[in-house]
Amino acid sequence: MEYKDIIYKTPVKEGLINYEKTFEGFDWEEVKNHFKSFSNHGVNIAHEAIDRHTSTDHKDKVALIWEDDDGVQKGYTFLSIKRQSDKCANVLKSIGIEKGDRVFLFLPRVPELYISIIAIAKVGAVAGPMFSAFGPEAIMDRLLDSNAKAIITTPELNQRLNEVKDQLPMLKNVILVGAKDILNEDELSYESEMNKASEVCKMRWVDPEDYLYILYTSGTTGKPKGVTHVHNDMISHYITTKWVLDLQEEDVYWCTADPGWVTGSVYGIWGPWLNGISQVVYNGRFDAEKWYSIIEKHKVTVLYTAPTALRMLMKAGDEVVKKYDLSSLRHICSVGEPLNPEVIKWGIKVYGLAIHDNWWQTETGSIMIANYPCLPIKPGSMGKPFPGICASIINSKGKELSFGKHGLLALKRGWPSMMREIWGNRQKFDEYFRISGWFATGDTAYMDSDGYFWFVGRADDVINTAGHRVGPFEVESALVEHKAVAEAGVIGKPDTERGEIIKAFIVLGQGYQPSEILRKEIQDFIKKRLAAHAYPREIEFLESVPKTRSGKIMRRVLKAKELGLPTGDLSTLEED
Ligand code: PRX
Repeated sequence: MEYKDIIYKTPVKEGLINYEKTFEGFDWEEVKNHFKSFSNHGVNIAHEAIDRHTSTDHKDKVALIWEDDDGVQKGYTFLSIKRQSDKCANVLKSIGIEKGDRVFLFLPRVPELYISIIAIAKVGAVAGPMFSAFGPEAIMDRLLDSNAKAIITTPELNQRLNEVKDQLPMLKNVILVGAKDILNEDELSYESEMNKASEVCKMRWVDPEDYLYILYTSGTTGKPKGVTHVHNDMISHYITTKWVLDLQEEDVYWCTADPGWVTGSVYGIWGPWLNGISQVVYNGRFDAEKWYSIIEKHKVTVLYTAPTALRMLMKAGDEVVKKYDLSSLRHICSVGEPLNPEVIKWGIKVYGLAIHDNWWQTETGSIMIANYPCLPIKPGSMGKPFPGICASIINSKGKELSFGKHGLLALKRGWPSMMREIWGNRQKFDEYFRISGWFATGDTAYMDSDGYFWFVGRADDVINTAGHRVGPFEVESALVEHKAVAEAGVIGKPDTERGEIIKAFIVLGQGYQPSEILRKEIQDFIKKRLAAHAYPREIEFLESVPKTRSGKIMRRVLKAKELGLPTGDLSTLEED
């Protein structure tokens, strides 16, 4: 199928002007030359993103404009981020954090989160950002798997950590932001340590292949996997930010994502600062009016957000848009799940701007396929491969398929920001390369004859709810920990607002009866253990769940039944 209704093209003067020509002549080595340190003593992304700017006229440029739910605002220049992160790096050194150590962040989007992530990179350690919505089990899985040595959190969130701390013997230090009470032996006050620390810190130069951050992401089976990235990723961060988000010197940029999600780390920290751009961080929940007021107040020019948020803005209606002066906005991008053509059309109507969808994954480390300001948008398409990226649609044997054919979305190895390891799990890493010559993304898609890619779905059972990847196995495992649950099967169910919602099919243990109270209790149990976004919004109680003869839950069958589709081959289905 081809989408003939090409509707929008932005006038472009800077950045990526001619896609085809740039694609043809593109060489990653040339982008690397932007970073002088590659040819010297070693590199450090923190130098390139922050310190470097302090010896230029960017020194006093605002790097971070921060605002929270209560309207409290703070501003930081590149120089003040440098000084604060130098101090924080000295604090980390003083507690024995060394190159390669894992330091986790369990914080809301406070300025200390951003400063700490820069500081962790400065000492050559590996940052592990986590959503502040995580429950004890999710925290433990990550700290345990990565052998984390320290964590930076708040006293309130620390209560969740305390529930599992006895199972984390390698965790030596807990640094608390905003602590008022007397601290335990292994706890330190962020503020007191910062007050004592020197403002000058020697940058730890590292090899481009040294680790920078680790982010856990869900698969179909097992615990979340620690996707690990290196300093070399800066090459991809820098150029994709410049060309896809189209950031230019005078822009005020707002990435609405949390650094616990890869978008918030790569395009909410590194990408914009590598380009010396001022960025806004809002530490608060979604609220349409609040979002518009932030754009108006800070004169946001470029917005990077997710389809769920855009759909919620659309639901809030056209009238509310008129209450705010959004004339500063000039470019909007979206990522994380399919962007509905209606949303693009609505965006043009109310903002006068076409929303530009793009595609990537935690594992790819940067945007791989995108709609660019210089190319016409086909609503519903993810766009075209970034220069330097070879993307294709293949079958399970690695054969490239022709235009319009549905198949596996695959990439050719060789871009700078591809993950380097699934932490401590070679086998899981190798699974991505099981089709010879390709990196298999786990998504299915097709390409049209103009070279535009169209998302079809996941090839596996991983659920994408409001842009969050949730593994069905994680939720099933947490469900069966509830005393009333004997068995559970979890699927993603299509939902207009969230893309997918999590639906659980539950078989109750002996002596338990289905009830509304029990349903709510099970939902709360998951919210507390895993995360608010991972709880099943729908629960259906069943007498049994379909399983293979080897005992695996057939989620495919549950899903087909839920959607009223054919159940397909049932030859391996266990019979009662
Ligand atoms: O299934 C695809 C979906 O999100 C997955 C990656 O999720 P995550 O690692 O959390 O990274 C998100 C950061 C970009 C993909 O395998 N996805 C991402 N972008 C899109 C998308 N699905 C459809 N359209 C997109 N633009």
